[in-house]
Amino acid sequence: MKHLLKLLDCTPEEITSILDLADQLKYERKHHISHRLLEGKSIGLIFQKSSTRTRVSFETGMFQLGGQALFLSSRDLQIGRGEPVQDTARVLSRYLDGIMIRTYEQKEVEDLAKYGSIPIINGLTDFCHPCQVLADLMTIREKYGVLKGLKMCYIGDGNNMANSLIVGGLKSDMQVSIATPDNYRPAKEVLDFAAGNDAFTLVNDPIKAVENADVVITDTWTSMGQEEEKKIRQQAFQGYQINDELMAAAKPGAMVMHCLPAYRGQEITEKIFEEHASEIFEEAENRLHAQKAVMVTLMK
Ligand code: CP
Ligand code: NVA
Repeated sequence: MKHLLKLLDCTPEEITSILDLADQLKYERKHHISHRLLEGKSIGLIFQKSSTRTRVSFETGMFQLGGQALFLSSRDLQIGRGEPVQDTARVLSRYLDGIMIRTYEQKEVEDLAKYGSIPIINGLTDFCHPCQVLADLMTIREKYGVLKGLKMCYIGDGNNMANSLIVGGLKSDMQVSIATPDNYRPAKEVLDFAAGNDAFTLVNDPIKAVENADVVITDTWTSMGQEEEKKIRQQAFQGYQINDELMAAAKPGAMVMHCLPAYRGQEITEKIFEEHASEIFEEAENRLHAQKAVMVTLMK
């Protein structure tokens, strides 16, 4: 594995091996066992969008691994003034040992990998959010002990999270059911990947999708970059909220997850959010462990 650009590129074995390493690194951290596996290495963190979790978990994760992380806001980089990504990639490859990038277009991430000569990690694009979904799979596996055969249900916008959950879930032999409004379906590339797989269903009706689900997941209705569509989206997603009625249709004791930030009263009620806060914040913590595993896998 040279890069983490999208889960579509990863084999099921690569995903499992990252999850196994993440579990081990989490165990070591809890038991104060030092693991300075990336001593002397540097990663650049390029952000063209806001972040709390991704930034802080990559920075502290790299510190715990004995290396250095450089926060590179696109506001300050020449990339923000139009320097081509091809040139940025070739320059940064001479200073750094890896790059994490959060941006809009998936093509920009793919181009960094194409023109650079160091590992590239996708820290969220409009198309996907692989680091988050590795942490999600880790969190589900921690609770249930396995992934195979469990039913994951995602309700809401067919966005970057939906795209990565479908691919990550199916590659982990989970059943994946998605409920979105017609105009907000997951990406074609992802639906093509899932096509013909009996473990996958895409419907409009959230109650139908959630039937027998072991894990219920949602995300914001308005992703970064879509702010001016906020009003239309709030209308379009009426009926796609995770609330008591929806959870009553899931398997009793089902987990609820949310990548955060969460908008209470929109995609999830305050009550459901707080009832499942321990799962949601474990999921947030697992970003740290999963991304350390990604960095070690790609940069060691
Ligand atoms: N879930 C997630 O990626 O959070 P941030 O936007 O805060 O990084
Ligand atoms: N779908 C959201 C995820 C945020 C972590 C967004 O892209 O803004």
